[in-house]
Amino acid sequence: MKVLVMDSAERAAMRAGGLIADTLSAAPDAVLGLATGATMEPVYGDLIARHRAGAISFARATSFNLDEYVGLPPDHPQSYRQTMQRLLFDHVDFDPSRCHLPRGDATDPHGEAQRYDAAIAAAGGIDIQLLGIGRNGHIGFNEPTSSLGARTRIKTLTGGTRKANARFFDTEQAVPRYAITMGIANILEARHCVLLATGEAKADAVARMIEGPLGADCPASALQLHPRASVIVDRKAASRLRMIDYYLEIHPGGEEPIIG
Ligand code: GLP
Repeated sequence: MKVLVMDSAERAAMRAGGLIADTLSAAPDAVLGLATGATMEPVYGDLIARHRAGAISFARATSFNLDEYVGLPPDHPQSYRQTMQRLLFDHVDFDPSRCHLPRGDATDPHGEAQRYDAAIAAAGGIDIQLLGIGRNGHIGFNEPTSSLGARTRIKTLTGGTRKANARFFDTEQAVPRYAITMGIANILEARHCVLLATGEAKADAVARMIEGPLGADCPASALQLHPRASVIVDRKAASRLRMIDYYLEIHPGGEEPIIG
């Protein structure tokens, strides 16, 4: 795992944006795994700016988002589909037919999960998967005790996750109870995983993910098994890392290693 510690949340978001931009420059038809959450908003802002500057194009790319709330139709303002439209898709040159999210309003959610896995496979798998992290260590909507071998399926959200996400809804009761989410196995199959975490509230989850034992109690710790995982954090999210001096030494300024 590469731990890239950036001086500010803004720089951390730009570093994540830069990794996606590099992927697109090397392979304009790349398959991008995208994520939602407030942490991702400046990343999408950064990608829009790079697109407007003529540095990157999404015209030949494909995207698959991690998850969607069960029960919300794609035009629901709080659906992750609408969130992605608002934050990214409406502002860049993506082909809309190649921007995929699970359908939250599918009549057969379990069938929808299988269809989603098949669509990812048919696209050739994910080249770069962007990830945030929940305060309890969840990635996508893989809550603690999720199988580390699971694929896309329906998960019941924890009370804590519903409370944390209530800020996007009118009331906590309005937050859906279920989500359809890529599983940890899908995430581990992505060729490169980029997890971004900023702010003090994520410090504990970040420490458990990077330095804690591998286990379903902290689903993000499964990234310890990934051969190419980059974790980008700001100083606040890095504040509980025991080996912070080491990460700063090998990745000064959040850059690539000096040796190797
Ligand atoms: C949701 C999403 C996750 C995201 C998490 C943290 O639960 N399903 O993908 O990582 O929120 O979001 P935030 O960045 O708003 O803290």
